[in-house]
Amino acid sequence: MLQKTQTKSLDVEQIRKDFPILKRKVHGKPLVYLDNAATSQKPRQVIEALKNYYETYNANVHRSIHQLGEEATAAYEKAREKIAVFVNADSYQNILFTKNSTEGLNLLAYSLTSSLKKGDEIVISQLEHHSNFVPWQQMAKQRGLKLKFIKINKDVELDKESIKKNITKKTKIVSVNHISNAVGTINPIEKITKIAHENGAFMVVDGSQAAPHMPLDMKEIDSDFYVFTGHKMLGPTGVGVVYGKKELLESMQPFLYGGEMINEVKFEDTTFNKLPWKFEAGTPNISEGIGLGIAVDYLKNIGMKRIFEKDKELVSYAMKRMKDIDGITIYGPKERGSIISFNIRGVHAHDVSQILDSEGVAIRAGHHCCMPLMSVLGITATARASFYLYNTEEEVDTFINAIHKVKKVFGV
Ligand code: ALA
Repeated sequence: MLQKTQTKSLDVEQIRKDFPILKRKVHGKPLVYLDNAATSQKPRQVIEALKNYYETYNANVHRSIHQLGEEATAAYEKAREKIAVFVNADSYQNILFTKNSTEGLNLLAYSLTSSLKKGDEIVISQLEHHSNFVPWQQMAKQRGLKLKFIKINKDVELDKESIKKNITKKTKIVSVNHISNAVGTINPIEKITKIAHENGAFMVVDGSQAAPHMPLDMKEIDSDFYVFTGHKMLGPTGVGVVYGKKELLESMQPFLYGGEMINEVKFEDTTFNKLPWKFEAGTPNISEGIGLGIAVDYLKNIGMKRIFEKDKELVSYAMKRMKDIDGITIYGPKERGSIISFNIRGVHAHDVSQILDSEGVAIRAGHHCCMPLMSVLGITATARASFYLYNTEEEVDTFINAIHKVKKVFGV
């Protein structure tokens, strides 16, 4: 018989040993970290990579002709190559380092809309994070573009009819998330990409919640751009990625100017660096990029398919246990990413989070940066538990017991 912590697909007990923070206590109770959609914890391999960089070869990249500079440049560019392989991109030239997904999506919204004409249409969905919503909304306002929204159905999935109705020959850009951070819906992005391309539109995917949890193949997905962030996939904060098709990146305007993205500057004009550095102004987040490369090694070693399977097992165990509790509403479809968004009748989500915290259980409560979605659902907030490769069934049991405590405290 398998032990509870050794699921069919992963030896979680072994994995947990790599994450120093999981040993700590919160309010005297063992930490049960279920806020992975906000940020993941970091394995010691990533923590050591940051320390090693600062202790042994800290230098700027692509500038300094000395040993440390060359070591730093090599490590930083090696990380980019690993990321290209991780998502099955053609080459390192498809991989732009950014600060996070939000910066990546701002880059795309700014740059891709700069050549559009008044009245051109952009399609996003009701299910987007503010970071894949506000940049398009604001560019549409500034540039006289029309912003349209794919509607959700009762299971909080993108409605098939609404996808077809909204994406038309007038559409120039479609941008949707791969997995919803608010409710965990996995969106059919290959199908939407196909529809976008049939109508001559560019396809952008916000993969912030997918890259940490499932295998990604840029050639299969075929979107023109795919954006994700390092800190949700065991990497450091301060580094994100935009994957882009090379011919498109080459034709696009840079987003930020100065430093690394320069080829030659004259008083009259400036020429820009080659890809990918054309989009990387100023000194980049060097240690963070290197750390993300190590995080990718760690994930690859375990295997993204196995991580996806393990997440599914744990979420379905948690959903099964939650369904037995009276007064709980779970939002989103049955088949989902490793996110469970819920409310307990008669209790505000913030109170749920606070009582869970007193039991050592960390979740997020609020609108999850998805205010438009909350308004469509007719609520202001949910409590959200989000799982990752180091979480166990015992931790789900602690989470369930803590929910019972909430109900007891509030008498519901
Ligand atoms: N976007 C992150 C979340 O969903 C921060 O919590």
